[in-house]
Amino acid sequence: MNLTQKTKEYLKNNITLDDMLPTKMPIYVNSAGYLFGVIILCALFMLILSGIILAFFGPTWYHFSIVGHFVNSVHFWSVQVFFLSLICHLFTKFFIAAWRDGRFKTWCVGILSLAVAIFCGFSGYLIQTDYDSQWIAVQAKDAFNALGIGSFLNVMDTGQMLTMHVVFLPVVLIFFVLIHLYFIRRDSPVKPIEKKGASK
Ligand code: HEM
Repeated sequence: MNLTQKTKEYLKNNITLDDMLPTKMPIYVNSAGYLFGVIILCALFMLILSGIILAFFGPTWYHFSIVGHFVNSVHFWSVQVFFLSLICHLFTKFFIAAWRDGRFKTWCVGILSLAVAIFCGFSGYLIQTDYDSQWIAVQAKDAFNALGIGSFLNVMDTGQMLTMHVVFLPVVLIFFVLIHLYFIRRDSPVKPIEKKGASK
């Protein structure tokens, strides 16, 4: 069996077209608590879009262009919306214990996405190409050297950090988000917690 056949079999046995692209949701999904996941996705879309424009014009563009400054601000505002909704999403999922009924993997991949997103954010502060980013890099290098990884991950190397922020970490993040979405579509939203003694 080749890889394409294996993938086809796996998808056929694990997810239906109706699950993948649903047009109806259970009634309990009609709640504000379910908006945060979608807001994160919208913010991620805006991050990628503004990030692509910034990447095209180079890392110093926003220092001398008003349009560049605006696109850079859109990128930063998207980061703020992204992390705010991510924290709200984490809390709402925590309080409905959304890891129940086999959704532990969805929860873990969510945590991995959060971890990668944090590092992606940090690497963004290192490529501002100003005194601020130089200061942060000089402070951060001590932590990386103390961990013994300073020689292969050099936070003072703007080129390396640019690749980390623009290519490597976003690709890993998108990969985890896609797995997260796959698990969500495959398992469907978890049922609300039943009150003890409530009639069924
Ligand atoms: C980039 C990060 C993330 C994105 C884009 C994302 C996106 C989503 C979306 C769109 C949903 C479906 C709608 C909803 O229930 O809100 C969802 C569900 C879920 N998320 Fe996330 N999420 C992320 C991070 C996290 C984190 C950090 C956690 C927990 C630590 C988490 C745990 C869950 C769980 C358990 C569900 C399933 C809820 C259910 O079955 O009802 N997610 N996520």
